[in-house]
Amino acid sequence: MLSIPARRTNDVTPSEITPREVFERRRDFLGTAAGFALGTALAPLSAALASEKPLASIKSPLSTPEKPTPLKDVTSYNNFYEFGTDKADPALHAHTLKTRPWTVSIEGLVKQPKTFAIDDIFRLGALEERIYRLRCVEGWSMVIPWLGLPLATLLKSVEPLGSAKYVEFISAADPKTMPGVNRSVIDWPYLEGLRLDEAMHPLTLLALGLYGEVLPKQNGAPLRLVVPWKYGFKSGKSIVKIRLVEKQPQTAWMKANPREYGFYSNVNPEVDHPRWSQASERRIGEFLKRKTLPFNGYADQVAPLYAGMDLKINF
Ligand code: MTE
Repeated sequence: MLSIPARRTNDVTPSEITPREVFERRRDFLGTAAGFALGTALAPLSAALASEKPLASIKSPLSTPEKPTPLKDVTSYNNFYEFGTDKADPALHAHTLKTRPWTVSIEGLVKQPKTFAIDDIFRLGALEERIYRLRCVEGWSMVIPWLGLPLATLLKSVEPLGSAKYVEFISAADPKTMPGVNRSVIDWPYLEGLRLDEAMHPLTLLALGLYGEVLPKQNGAPLRLVVPWKYGFKSGKSIVKIRLVEKQPQTAWMKANPREYGFYSNVNPEVDHPRWSQASERRIGEFLKRKTLPFNGYADQVAPLYAGMDLKINF
């Protein structure tokens, strides 16, 4: 993302792990080096999260019919700078992240500010399986079977005030458990933002799991944002605070490099990033590139949100 030279030595190789195997081998996704030695990014489920069954979920009609990217790739090729800037770093180092106890406070321009214990968020409603494309600004993409709740469910519960126009997402930044935070790679904590109507859109997901299991730490446990029509970096991980505000918030990437990263960051094959073309992408595990679709293929559902806006200026 930043002007840090991208090390590509850990480019993933395609492999197959079926969801069935995931269900049969109940695992936490600590992603330790030991896990890699076994040929997977998995390790035994910690006692705190132990449960004999996969997370119950209902299938969402909003899923893409495309084939999900193998679990091994989804959990070993990550951007999570709190654990290092190399794609392999989060799987190697995120085991130090402590996901219990964990609270998420929702504050700002709301009638009922609340602090949720993470397990209460799990109880807000039935988890939905949503298979979404994720397109990174760097030119790679994946298809991920997320488990989560519409973000709108959480936001409605605090009753946004009429003056609330934007939503700010603040990630955890604990130097004791997140070693990357001790380096000033970005201005911590990691911040993301959406317009309120984007945040309330039915496609916007608060992910609590993937591939039928609780979220692997390297993918943003215990909860992260997923906004499938925007570049992957709009998906803040390990969120601790959500603030409803009147003015457009600054995001971590806008602060780091406003010329390269705009507030909207909608997937747009017509607007290149200064360092990467956005016209095509390489699906992780595939050899040939494919064309990138406007709004990452979700234009029917989300293009009306931007009617009348110049998306070259509002990139
Ligand atoms: N959230 C936090 N807190 N820290 C990060 O470094 N990286 C972002 C986003 N969310 C990031 C983050 C970027 S650049 C991407 S591409 C996605 O997470 C990657 O999500 P994934 O590793 O689950 O594919």
